[in-house]
Amino acid sequence: MAITKAKSLKGEITIPGDKSISHRGVMFGSISEGITELTGFLDGADCRSTISCFKAMGIDITQENDHVVIHGKGLHGLTKPEKMLDVGNSGTTTRLISGILAGQHFISSLNGDDSIQKRPMGRIITPLTKMGAHIKSIKDNGCAPLEIGGSKLTSIHYDSSVASAQVKSCILLAGLYADGITSVTEPAVSRNHTELMLSGFGANINTNGLTASIEGGPKLVGQKIAVPGDISSAAYFIAAGLMCDNADLLIKNVNTNPTRAGIIKVAKDMGGNIELLNERIVSGEPVADIHVTTSQLNGCEVSGDIIPALIDELPIIAVMAANATGTTTIKDAAELKVKESDRIATVTENLKNMGCDITPTDDGMIINGGKILHGTHIKTYLDHRIAMSFAIAGLVADGETTFDDEGCCVISYPKFFETISSIVNR
Ligand code: S3P
Repeated sequence: MAITKAKSLKGEITIPGDKSISHRGVMFGSISEGITELTGFLDGADCRSTISCFKAMGIDITQENDHVVIHGKGLHGLTKPEKMLDVGNSGTTTRLISGILAGQHFISSLNGDDSIQKRPMGRIITPLTKMGAHIKSIKDNGCAPLEIGGSKLTSIHYDSSVASAQVKSCILLAGLYADGITSVTEPAVSRNHTELMLSGFGANINTNGLTASIEGGPKLVGQKIAVPGDISSAAYFIAAGLMCDNADLLIKNVNTNPTRAGIIKVAKDMGGNIELLNERIVSGEPVADIHVTTSQLNGCEVSGDIIPALIDELPIIAVMAANATGTTTIKDAAELKVKESDRIATVTENLKNMGCDITPTDDGMIINGGKILHGTHIKTYLDHRIAMSFAIAGLVADGETTFDDEGCCVISYPKFFETISSIVNR
């Protein structure tokens, strides 16, 4: 795949379903009674990993593209998998399923690809152990493979040192299997899809500021859920619409949950022409169509409590910053180092190779924007968000942008390059 500069960018696009919501729909449907039906499901590799894990625990799940039907068996209906569960590349599958597995009467184990085996699991091992769970890192290095389950859980209150929806959700899901109220306090609010969706399935779940709490032992009942488009995938086209010449794009049906929508604020702070149209609520989540047009972008500071609301968008925000006038400082984002790749390192390396003035820091990066970017060979480190961010950079760069392996887009956006082709004029 070679990307070259776009002369113009026009059209209406619908991006694939939200990854976080798709995972949760399969998980919560599996441990509910009756049928859960998901439309708009993200048919990407990560969400397929979640489906295959629950199938391996005896849940009947049928999938036809973005339509998924789950025959749930209730909180205690999962059966011991015959083999080690394979979570693929998916951190969300790993951390959320661990909360559910901790509450099972059987012992199971899980593992994933090379990237998953480097990601920190101590952040879930510590709270689950406090709840009385049996959970161990099989290689004793704080990472997967993990062995989990077979113990009775007790409710706890946990003060998390990271603002992570995966950690929060893991503890809340384990809390379903504990007596009494389990609660988690985070340093900043992370995405709240678990709280919104589990409540729809019948859990008694409350949020008070930075604390979410759940009561153990509810009866969960299957739901019909329309999964909205993923703002993390829309982000690439928001950026493209703001940065490319002669751009006018409508991105339809995007989840604009405020715990996810930090990119919209940053786009506005940078002076971008961005508007939300047709705002509505679908299956308990805020949704809108997003309209963007060519803009003169200025640098800004991205830091503090907004970071969890745009953590996955920081690579594409860095690309926007490279195209903006002035300096952009990204701070308080050390979590970038423990994503699918070390995104401080991988963004810096690739943007530098395109000619950008960028300095990595311990918790982010400083980008002096405004230099013309040059196409180069992108090293994706098999990180889908690096591949997609730099494909968009290629639309505003001179020359050709090529990739060592753009196939990693299958994780969250299998038809990403087809969407680009449908709107670009060269
Ligand atoms: C996710 C939470 C975030 C995000 C990930 C999806 C989720 O991870 O980066 O892509 O669905 O809960 P952390 O909880 O580790 O920040």
